[in-house]
Amino acid sequence: MQQAQDTLYNQPIVIDNGSGTIRAGFAGDETPKINYSNVVGKPKYQRIMSSSINQNDKFIGSKAQSLRGLLKLQYPISHGVVTNWNNMETVWAQVFGGSSSQPTTTTTTTTTTTGAKEQKSDSAQPTEEQQQNQPQSSLSVFGGGLSIKPEQHPLLITEQPLNPRSNRTKLAETLFETFGFPALHISIPAVLSLYSSGRTTGMIVDSGDGVTTSVPVFDGFSIPGSIKRLDLGGRDITELLKLELMKCGYSFCSSSEFEIVRSMKERLGFVELDCGVFGNKNGGVGSSGYGGSGGLGGGYGDAERDFVLPDGKTIGVSDRSLSWSCELLFSPETFGYEMSSVDQLVYNSLLKTDIDLRGQLASNIILAGGSTMFRNFGSRLLDGIQSYDDELKLKIYASPDRKVSCFVGGSILASLSTFKNIWISKEAYRENPDSIHAYVL
Ligand SMILES: Nc1ncnc2c1ncn2[C@@H]1O[C@H](COP(=O)(O)OP(=O)(O)OP(=O)(O)O)[C@@H](O)[C@H]1O
Ligand SMILES: [Mg+2]
Repeated sequence: MQQAQDTLYNQPIVIDNGSGTIRAGFAGDETPKINYSNVVGKPKYQRIMSSSINQNDKFIGSKAQSLRGLLKLQYPISHGVVTNWNNMETVWAQVFGGSSSQPTTTTTTTTTTTGAKEQKSDSAQPTEEQQQNQPQSSLSVFGGGLSIKPEQHPLLITEQPLNPRSNRTKLAETLFETFGFPALHISIPAVLSLYSSGRTTGMIVDSGDGVTTSVPVFDGFSIPGSIKRLDLGGRDITELLKLELMKCGYSFCSSSEFEIVRSMKERLGFVELDCGVFGNKNGGVGSSGYGGSGGLGGGYGDAERDFVLPDGKTIGVSDRSLSWSCELLFSPETFGYEMSSVDQLVYNSLLKTDIDLRGQLASNIILAGGSTMFRNFGSRLLDGIQSYDDELKLKIYASPDRKVSCFVGGSILASLSTFKNIWISKEAYRENPDSIHAYVL
């Protein structure tokens, strides 16, 4: 380990490896250079004409989004856990951008990262013979990688707390052995968001695409047993909105249409201020709320919002459908999930901390992650926690940059001179692979 600390490496790389979005850049960057859906798209139809797209191509990032109608989109991470390692490696290979140590499963005959070379590969019409010589799986590159050689950079990557141990084991093995990083630090996203806020004390509430966590940190110390996690996030809300739209006569079935519903949710979704509209916290449905099966009952405004579909057609989406789906995080039991609501999660987390620390933590609640961006999220959270204890002095901080606060915090941590004291070198890992579990929470 000492040896690795003495070696001079290039700038550390920082990756927020989220269930829905991957954000990456160099230590010290103020914003991530890479910021796109953590998704892999493969053509789902049969190719009948010669084109620049091959049947086995994989598309990542903005290219995957722009071609999504042709593709089957798959997220390699579900609820914070990697469920498809091949696709995960493909995404990482793209993020590192054309380095020599890309995994063989993603080798491509047109591996480029520069715009010029990419144009060339786009316009060239492959001959029959060239097509036959294509590798089984090739990676379509759009020119947005970091263009680094992994073996020259230490890496800081995120992993959700309370994840299965096997996920971290495989994560480290892949990054050290397949990509060749010389040093690795795996960090909890919520803690990085605390770094970005400039504090060392706070209760971070991070709600992303797949996971919602509540992590109290006091003077830089984590409190054992106080971290709480809910395996619900924005993707589950999108799924609910998709079903609500179906009830209104709009069908969004394919994986690419799911992305349209996601955009709709991001643009129009909001959390109802008054929890009574939907019923009580125990899953019951209030008299003025919706029908028992999630149907739309009376006593609620019927306003509609316009949403323009990619084909130019405008559809009206009712406020009821929008807020009902967003209610998932605040009333999961209403939807059949035997889980705590996000306000309960935070309160339970607070109760697990020492009574002397609670006051400061309660007045430093910090929101992070895309699913806290819904209108009224903070106010509803505040009311929810207050309903458990109205004497708590609560203060919630919601930075407008909270979608990227995890990356920013990682960028700060990785640029500190002390970063080398917390990374695990490849040598130390090889001597003792369990060393990567040392700081697991
Ligand atoms: N303005 C917005 N309003 C509501 N939801 C949003 C908004 N912007 C993004 N989201 C949602 O936030 C989620 C992505 O957030 P984030 O990038 O924090 O998650 P992640 O880090 O990829 O996932 P996780 O941390 O759960 O593994 C997606 O579900 C996305 O639809
Ligand atoms: Mg996240």
